[in-house]
Parts: sequence; structure tokens; C-alpha cells
Amino acid sequence: MQLKDLFNQWALFTAGRYRSNQWLLSKWDTLDGVPVSEEKISALFAHVDGALDLKSCRRILDAGCGGGWMSERLGSSERQCVGVDIAFEMLRNSERKNSSVVCADLCALPFQPEVFDAVLCYFVFINFLNPAEIRRAVDELLRVTEPGGRILIGQLPDKSRSEGYDAAKEEYRRFCNEHFPHLRETRDQHPIPIQLYERGFWASLLDEKDCSYKVRDSFNPFFRPGQPSTVNWRFDIVIQKADR
Ligand SMILES: C[S@@+](CC[C@H](N)C(=O)[O-])C[C@H]1O[C@@H](n2cnc3c(N)ncnc32)[C@H](O)[C@@H]1O
Repeated sequence: MQLKDLFNQWALFTAGRYRSNQWLLSKWDTLDGVPVSEEKISALFAHVDGALDLKSCRRILDAGCGGGWMSERLGSSERQCVGVDIAFEMLRNSERKNSSVVCADLCALPFQPEVFDAVLCYFVFINFLNPAEIRRAVDELLRVTEPGGRILIGQLPDKSRSEGYDAAKEEYRRFCNEHFPHLRETRDQHPIPIQLYERGFWASLLDEKDCSYKVRDSFNPFFRPGQPSTVNWRFDIVIQKADR
């Protein structure tokens, strides 16, 4: 089954109950109904801000926006945010008060070149399994970004540190089972494929492009008060397209 169909199914499964929160930092947050604290959301957006410098952005693309909850928080009267996603059902429940959405594939974006000053691509390449598609999508993100603009590719699972992820997931599962036992049967429904990355894969891909980039630890998707806000078993790539 194609990724698009998996996400359409997921959207239909979660639609009535969660609306735009169809993917809220981690699938478990959504399924478990674990209240996602403002503290967690603020910490995430501080992390995004550190990469994209949001106050300088006027036109943001939320690439692979899902239910669009991040687009809603990024858009404002001064800043346009456009969400794009391949799964129509994911987009259907997006609020679109502060953002607009388009159904399209990251590998063939329906935008003119250099129209966005920043691109957020969060929790998306984690599900890309085909290296040719990864390359095409990165080329497209670079194409639609203006010179000097930034792209944040967030939450890439680090192949060499997957044990750290397994341990964190187990700890989170214990927390959920203890605090939200009534939701246990919905946990781990709708398995979605995950791609583990070597950091070198991204270096070889980006070294040949007209851009600079930094690699940094990801925001902790299982963040709760008392937990670290970043983790080294996932990494983010912050790309800056070369100036003209
Ligand atoms: C894990 S969800 C993340 C959603 C959102 N970025 C967030 O963090 O809440 C991944 C999203 O990427 C979308 N996606 C996957 N492959 C895509 C592609 N080739 N083009 C556009 N969207 C894609 C999926 O449909 C899904 O909605």
C-alpha cells in the first residue's frame, strides 16, 4: 500500500475525534489522547524558531503538513503559511484559519521557483522509503525556496542510535499505560513505515547542492516536564539556500 493511502486511512480513523491534531508531535499523543501541554508546544516552536528565525519569515511552506496544526500556528496576518500534503484526507480537517492548504506531492510541488522564504518539513522524511524520492523532494524544496531562505527538515531517525529511540519509546509507553490505561487498545494501530537514516546519506546528498547546512539534535517528540527537550536519536537538518 502506498504511503498516501496509509495516511488517508489514518486520517479517516482519527478524523472525528482529533480533527487537525491528527499528528501531534507523535502518533501516540494523538492516539492516547495524552494532553499535549502548551509547554511542549512552546518548546517545539522555540526549536523551529531557532532553525528558521520565524520573525524574519513572510511566506512559509509547511511541506507534508498533515492536519495542518503547525501551519495554523505559523500563519498570521503578517505571515502567510501554505500547507501541502499528498494525503487529501489529512488535509480535510485542517482548520485553515491562518493558513491555506494544497494537495500535492513533495516530489512535484505546484509552485513557482523561489516563492517561499522558509520551509518547514517536519516528521515527513521519516516515512520516505525510496532514496530517489528523497532526492526529488529535496530538490523541490530547494527549488521553491528563495536564495538565502531556510529549510528545516525535522525528525530524521538516526540509524546508529535507534536503541536510544527504543528505550525512550518504551519509557513513554510505560508512562501512557500508567496514566491512560483505557486507551491502551488504540496504541500502535495503523503501523506506518519508518526510514532510519545514516547522517552520511544527507551529507552526500546536500554536499552536491548550492546550499549550506547544519545538523542538530531533534526536539524530543516524547517531551514532558522533566524530560530533555532534545534527543540525539533523531536529527534535524537546517539548510540555507545560497544567496544570489
Ligand atoms: C507524520 S505526518 C506529519 C505531519 C505534520 N508535518 C506534523 O508534524 O504534524 C507525515 C505527513 O507527510 C505526508 N506525506 C508523506 N509523503 C508525502 C509526499 N510525497 N508529498 C506530500 N506529503 C507527504 C503524509 O501524508 C503525512 O500527512
